Amino acid sequence: MADTIFLVGAAGFIGCNFVKKLAVPHNDINFVIIDKLTYAGHMFNIEEELEHDHIGFEKADIVDSTVVSQLFEKYQPDAIINFAAESHVDRSIENPNVFLETNVMGTMNLLNNALKLHKKNKFTRFLQVSTDEVYGELTHDEEPFSEQTPIKPNSPYSASKASADHLVHAYHHTYGLDTVITRCSNNYGPYQNPEKLIPVMIDKATKNEKLPVYGKGENVRDWIYVDDHNHGIWNAFERGNTGSIYNFGGNSEYKNIDLVKKILELLGKDEDLISFVTDRLGHDFRYAINFEKAATELGWTPKVEFNQGMIQTIDWYLGNKDWIEKVQKKWES
Ligand SMILES: NC(=O)c1ccc[n+]([C@@H]2O[C@H](COP(=O)([O-])OP(=O)(O)OC[C@H]3O[C@@H](n4cnc5c(N)ncnc54)[C@H](O)[C@@H]3O)[C@@H](O)[C@H]2O)c1
Repeated sequence: MADTIFLVGAAGFIGCNFVKKLAVPHNDINFVIIDKLTYAGHMFNIEEELEHDHIGFEKADIVDSTVVSQLFEKYQPDAIINFAAESHVDRSIENPNVFLETNVMGTMNLLNNALKLHKKNKFTRFLQVSTDEVYGELTHDEEPFSEQTPIKPNSPYSASKASADHLVHAYHHTYGLDTVITRCSNNYGPYQNPEKLIPVMIDKATKNEKLPVYGKGENVRDWIYVDDHNHGIWNAFERGNTGSIYNFGGNSEYKNIDLVKKILELLGKDEDLISFVTDRLGHDFRYAINFEKAATELGWTPKVEFNQGMIQTIDWYLGNKDWIEKVQKKWES
């Protein structure tokens, strides 16, 4: 078991949930959160957890190779779980450059430093948190993505994530670095930034504002509760085979329009609030995940049933309006 694990990008949505549910109870390991605190990463997501002696924090941009090297010198981590990324597809369509910088060059800086430690036999595992979007899109009746599905990313976001995955694979194949890649479908749950589909819809519905739905809302996504994803990451980190890829999915495929109607129903709001808007450029039609490999090799399956997860998520947002306000205030400043 590793002594010191870097949790890179863990002030964001998925990473902060990982810190709360998995890093806090593992007090035999030193976790160091490394995060640039972009518009998507917040100190207030992890402040309470930093009170634990075994959880530390460094504000750093992984694109800066000097800073990354200094952090590796200082802590000599045994392992890395890399959550850090520019993660919003719409933003990647507006400004792809920062996606390439963080998602590709940032990952490469982490890999280069991990490799230096690996050469001294001081590094155990590099886990790259990736996405099902690297596989491209499916039609209605195509089989779900498996780990064998060829990579065919369509957006600047997914192209940058796929590039990072290729680099991670290359460092395993070429240098023998111990790597694992996880590819997960769409996450939902507490602390997701209010620019992503589910928090946007909850926020607008509670304010009786129009809910913008791309196209006719026919696009299909598979939804997974964030804790299920994080348990998959931890299982893959602990016992995944070196060089492997593991898919995680929630067994919950929904058309966007049905998802939005579900949110309105749970909030007791009228469907008249739905407003169809111009579709996203190059919008992938459908994602669906075959996670048989994770089930067989890791004993992992998603545990949170969709309806239950949505109720928990809505309850969290209704009970944490101050969190949304803090995020939105940060974005305005
Ligand atoms: N959200 C999803 O549905 C989903 C699904 C599958 C995979 N993923 C992947 O999971 C990871 C986490 O996603 P998320 O939804 O939590 O994203 P997020 O945008 O909420 O968080 C990203 C975090 O990375 C940090 N970061 C960004 N650029 C950085 C840089 N240059 N240096 C250091 N830190 C930086 C941000 O400050 C933030 O804390 C990403 O790699 C994403 O591609 C997300």
